[in-house]
Amino acid sequence: MTSYVIRGAKILGGEPTDIAIEDGVITGIGADLSGGEEIDATGLVALPGLVDLHTHVREPGREDAETVLTGSQAAARGGFTCVHAMANTEPVADTAGVVEQVWRLGREGGYCDVQPVGAVTAGLKGTQLAELGAMADSAAGVKVFSDDGKCVSDAVLMRRALEYVKAFDGVIAQHAQEPRLTEGAQMNEGPLSGELGLVGWPAVAEEAIIARDVLLAEHVGSRLHVCHLSTRGSVEIIRWAKSRGIDVTAEVTPHHLLLSDDLVRSYDPIYKVNPPLRSNDDVEAVRDGLADGTIDIVATDHAPHPMEDKECEWAAAAFGMLGLETALSVVQQTMVDTGRLTWEQVAEKMSTKPAEIGRVSNQGRPIAVGEPANIVLVDPAAQRTIDARDTASLSRNNPYDGLTLPGEVVATFLRGRPTVRDRALVTPLVKEAVTA
Ligand code: DOR
Ligand code: ZN
Ligand code: ZN
Repeated sequence: MTSYVIRGAKILGGEPTDIAIEDGVITGIGADLSGGEEIDATGLVALPGLVDLHTHVREPGREDAETVLTGSQAAARGGFTCVHAMANTEPVADTAGVVEQVWRLGREGGYCDVQPVGAVTAGLKGTQLAELGAMADSAAGVKVFSDDGKCVSDAVLMRRALEYVKAFDGVIAQHAQEPRLTEGAQMNEGPLSGELGLVGWPAVAEEAIIARDVLLAEHVGSRLHVCHLSTRGSVEIIRWAKSRGIDVTAEVTPHHLLLSDDLVRSYDPIYKVNPPLRSNDDVEAVRDGLADGTIDIVATDHAPHPMEDKECEWAAAAFGMLGLETALSVVQQTMVDTGRLTWEQVAEKMSTKPAEIGRVSNQGRPIAVGEPANIVLVDPAAQRTIDARDTASLSRNNPYDGLTLPGEVVATFLRGRPTVRDRALVTPLVKEAVTA
């Protein structure tokens, strides 16, 4: 296996130093290292490989929109070395068989570790629990369970799921959306939904479920993770829950950090997403929540959809946006360049903590001697104009098309192998053996 010396990288934005990699492991950090192929990292920031807790790959079932391989390639281009693949596939990832298939496809692809998320309820139907234990015991070692796309709205089922996963240190990741309050909902409820004549999606539909679930998690002494927080009230509830010592974590998406509901004026379904883009005040609140630690992590909710499901009238369009290839740039723009987060904190919120929440022990590790060489090199001074066609994804539903965003991934290393080099995907890859 090739050895590398990364020269002059600023680890977590610190002073430039060299990083030596051998056999997939970081073997040296310091000045003037030698003994491998040279990678010039002058001016680049080195972060631990990013970990996404919330990715939709569409395999099995909708391989026209995304496969495990293309999703992994998009992830690598975004600086990720691990993604959690949501369960809303066809068939649903609600058995050991399906999660093992997804896990194995990820390892075979070799661009990124793909950690399957198991469904909470059979077929995402919300009526009976899926085989949580069997998925946890499978080769995929599932720790995160979610009906994402749908809310586990039945309080009894939610309670049982929270209780059940305690046995294997699992976590329930809730898509907080009260179904009755969001029937037919199309966009954030507010003056604008009235003006545009689109059915409103009230903040309370999200907040009511989060309030219920933090209390349930407290009651049964279990671990809860809340997906894609999007409102000021949600941030306040999580802040309150944490102050009470409730074991809850929360995520925000890049799009909820940058975009707001004014964009819906265009009636362009590229901006249609679940939960919906919210008000500017909500955007401010989620930025503050991420900065002060109330919101633990950034997760992409990368949701590929084929053109025909997005290029149609608003009401008929699918919910969801791509996110893997732009996440770090959006976080740089909204949080780093505004002085709200340091690179060290970005590493925490996009690598260390998501790995911790997902209990992925070999990812989200520090850049230190003896650790697996999962590293992303970022050029924070780069400016790139986003082009939706320039993607590894099979889909093109990129809401940032035409925007200029800061930062660019120059290289990504997965266990010492470059998956991205010189700002481009490495293809074909030199594969590593798949072992369980
Ligand atoms: O916008 C979304 N798209 N939100 C979800 O919860 C599901 C996702 C999807 O699967 O497309
Ligand atoms: Zn969701
Ligand atoms: Zn999702």
